[in-house]
Amino acid sequence: PVKQRLLVVANKLPVSAVRKGADSWQLEMSVGGLVTAVLGVKGFETRWIGWPGVNVSDEVGRRALTKKLSEKRCIPVFLNEDIVHQYYNGYCNNILWPHLHYLGLQPEDRLANTRCFESQFDAYIKANEMFAAVVNEHYGEGDVVWCHDYHLMFLPKCLKMYNKNMKVGWFLHTPFPSSEIYRTLPSRSELLRSILAADLVGFHTYDYVRHFVSACTRVLGLEGTPEGVEDHGKFTHVAAFPIGIDSNRFIRALELPQVRSHIKELQERFSGRKVMLGVDRLDMIKGIPQKILAFEKFLEENPDWHNKVVLLQIAVPTRTDVPEYQKLTSQVHEIVGRINGRFGTLTAVPIHHLDRSLDFHALCALYAVTDIALVTSLRDGMNLVSYEYVACQSSKKGVLILSEFAGAAQSLGAGAILVNPWNITEMAASIAYALNMPADEREKRHQHNFTHVTTHTAQEWAETFVSELNHTIAESQSTT
Ligand code: UDP
Ligand code: G6P
Repeated sequence: PVKQRLLVVANKLPVSAVRKGADSWQLEMSVGGLVTAVLGVKGFETRWIGWPGVNVSDEVGRRALTKKLSEKRCIPVFLNEDIVHQYYNGYCNNILWPHLHYLGLQPEDRLANTRCFESQFDAYIKANEMFAAVVNEHYGEGDVVWCHDYHLMFLPKCLKMYNKNMKVGWFLHTPFPSSEIYRTLPSRSELLRSILAADLVGFHTYDYVRHFVSACTRVLGLEGTPEGVEDHGKFTHVAAFPIGIDSNRFIRALELPQVRSHIKELQERFSGRKVMLGVDRLDMIKGIPQKILAFEKFLEENPDWHNKVVLLQIAVPTRTDVPEYQKLTSQVHEIVGRINGRFGTLTAVPIHHLDRSLDFHALCALYAVTDIALVTSLRDGMNLVSYEYVACQSSKKGVLILSEFAGAAQSLGAGAILVNPWNITEMAASIAYALNMPADEREKRHQHNFTHVTTHTAQEWAETFVSELNHTIAESQSTT
């Protein structure tokens, strides 16, 4: 059978471009849960539409890059520098992202934002229109258009203006906050109305669905039900589709010779010590300072463990042009430096902090050899690092310490130790508990999570979303 064409539209393509010459480009993997999950999707004829992550202002460069990307089934949306600054750095990452994660800025910073708010929101709309134009150019009848994330809240409306019969789904990879928080956003109504133009709207958890529906009720005064929202006779379906990973890709990777040799190296390097792992983009939602302070408290309270446990923190630089992210970087460096100064010896330090990303194989090796993973997000849509850790722990059966504010707490909660990342004392106690956990308890907890991760995959997530979207449209056509 002919596979259905799926146009995946996201701010960033799964590969980011680096210029090597007038007409030569190198492609690198983009980092983030959205990319990981959607790359795990098979069974469709998929095209990606998105921003290549660089500013290309000349025709020669644009043409060469478009060609290079087409080999990866990717279609670029070119945005100019000013739009990127106002749309991506400004509206998306300085306003929407903290807002959706309950990280209200201080009133004075927020006040400063109100001045640039309007021009940034204009740029956001403009950018969404530019995405829509590219989608429209590549759309064919029968295709499904799947819009992703908070960068593209305005896209469903733009697409339906081109063609009201286009099949449009929209999925949010972040939390959707309580309507009490959401309603302080100046552009609250425009964004909700645009999202409602989609045929199907999806979130990771049922809580986010509930928050969204109640925002539509309270902000727009619309009729909401657990299944969706009705606006002047048009019903938009809203539902939870918890994302997953391509677990087999991780499990298979552990058998590769280069991963095995990485594993061996790491085991030798850290022999005699327990190893705890953190893998995060260096983002304020990840609770990295909280995690490190909890580890400090643990060391304070457990002198017997000095030199016997180490924390490896991989902190992938992200959104480095946004001032809040620059501040976070120096804050984290300062805390790490202080703790290593305080507890380090001539031959060892308790924290290895890396400001870089790792390739897939190195990451799998780390997941496999470590005794504990620490996921301490203050808020997180789902958090796929926790899934990936579980997938790679078949032999070690390590412990997952997981924030109750990550979407993943709802699926991996029974196997993980759940913590409130704001409670440093509780987190320090959880580290002690995890380090001392008997093998049979570790095994039981691991098995619980492993079953979940291997049966709720990215592929199943996408298939469910798209088939629900097809179904929704078929249903509405049969009633009109
Ligand atoms: N990741 C990566 N390289 C790294 C560190 C992380 O590719 O050096 C990936 C990781 O495997 C995971 C994703 O980045 O798939 C992070 O997703 P998550 O949902 O945990 O958080 P997000 O970054 O989307 O907020
Ligand atoms: C999160 C967002 C994604 C985003 C990723 C990386 O996962 O939900 O939409 O792509 O972070 O952030 P960046 O700004 O580097 O694309």
